[in-house]
Amino acid sequence: MTDAITASGLRKAYQDKVVLDGIDLNVRAGTIFSLLGPNGAGKTTTVNVLTTLIKADGGTVRVAGHDIATEAKAVRAAIGVTGQFAAVDDLLTGQENLQLMVDLNRAKGGKRIVADLLERFDLVESARKPASTYSGGMRRKLDLAMTLIGNPRIIFLDEPTTGLDPRSRRTMWDIIRDLVADGVTIFLTTQYLEEADQLADRVAVLDKGRLVAQGTPDELKRQIPGTHVRFRFTTADELDSAARIFPGSSRDDDALTLRVPSDGGTKSLRSLLDRLDEYSLSAETFTVHTPDLDDVFLALTGHTTEVVAK
Ligand SMILES: Nc1ncnc2c1ncn2[C@@H]1O[C@H](COP(=O)(O)OP(=O)(O)O)[C@@H](O)[C@H]1O
Ligand SMILES: [Mg+2]
Repeated sequence: MTDAITASGLRKAYQDKVVLDGIDLNVRAGTIFSLLGPNGAGKTTTVNVLTTLIKADGGTVRVAGHDIATEAKAVRAAIGVTGQFAAVDDLLTGQENLQLMVDLNRAKGGKRIVADLLERFDLVESARKPASTYSGGMRRKLDLAMTLIGNPRIIFLDEPTTGLDPRSRRTMWDIIRDLVADGVTIFLTTQYLEEADQLADRVAVLDKGRLVAQGTPDELKRQIPGTHVRFRFTTADELDSAARIFPGSSRDDDALTLRVPSDGGTKSLRSLLDRLDEYSLSAETFTVHTPDLDDVFLALTGHTTEVVAK
C-alpha cells in the first residue's frame, strides 16, 4: 500500500453552510502531510470525516485501504487521533491515563509500555501528578503518548502545537519526526507555515473548504515573497529614490513602503542601511518580515486569513 489516505470529492455541509467543498488529496504511507489553513478553514471537519467521527455528505475516502463509509471499524483500528478520542482524564495522573489506555487496548507488557512512553515523552517527573496540573505542552504530549498505545500506523494530529511555547513546539516536532522514522504516516493540521515547512513532505492549503494549493513546502514557498525588509518613508520622493537604489525591490505607493528582499540577518541589514545612508536617505521605520500564513493566503487567494463573519 503506497497511499495511506485518499480522498476525492469530499463534501460536508451543515444546513446550508458548505464547510468542505470538494476536497481531493492523497497521503503517501510513511510521510507527513500537512493541511494548512486559518481558523474556520475546515481543518477539524476534514480530520473528523477522515477519522470516521462525522459522516461526509459526498465523495469517497479510503484510509489504510478501507472505505470510511463501509469499513469504519477497520479504519478506526488502523488510526490514532489526538485531541479527539484520546481524551486525557484530568483526575488521573499521567501514568494512570496511560495505564488506562493499555487496559482498554488489552496491550501486553503494559507496565513496560507505560514506563517507556513516560521516558520518551519526557514525562517521568510528572508521571504521578494529576493531569489537571499539566501545562498545555505536557497535556499534548500525554495525549499523543496515549494515542501511540494502540500502535496506530496512521496518526491524525489536529493543530498539535497551537498555543504552545517555542520549546514545547520543538519537542513535539521531534516526536513527530521520530514517529515517521518508524514508518508511521502523519496527517497534521496547522495554522503555522513554519510548522508545515519544518515537518511536511507535502502541504495542502485549505481556504474556506477548498484546497487552493498543494505541493512540497518548497513549491509552496516559491509562490510567496520570501523574507524581506520593509522600509517606510515619509515622502513619495524618498520612496522613489530608494526604489532606484534597490533593484528587485517592490513598492507600495499608498503606504509609502518599499519591500527589499533580504535574509534579515544583521550583516545584510547593516548593508541595506548603509546604502540608504550613502544616498542620504532615511526610512521612517523598517521591519524584517518572515513569510507566514498570511503571505501564503495573500499570494494564493488574494485575501488574508482574517476570519470572515460566520
Ligand atoms: N457542527 C457544526 N455545525 C455548524 N457549523 C460547523 C460545525 N462544525 C464546524 N462548523 C463550521 O465549519 C467551518 C469549519 O470549521 P472547522 O473545521 O472547525 O475549521 P478549523 O478546524 O479549520 O478551524 C467553520 O465555519 C465552523 O463554524
Ligand atoms: Mg480546528
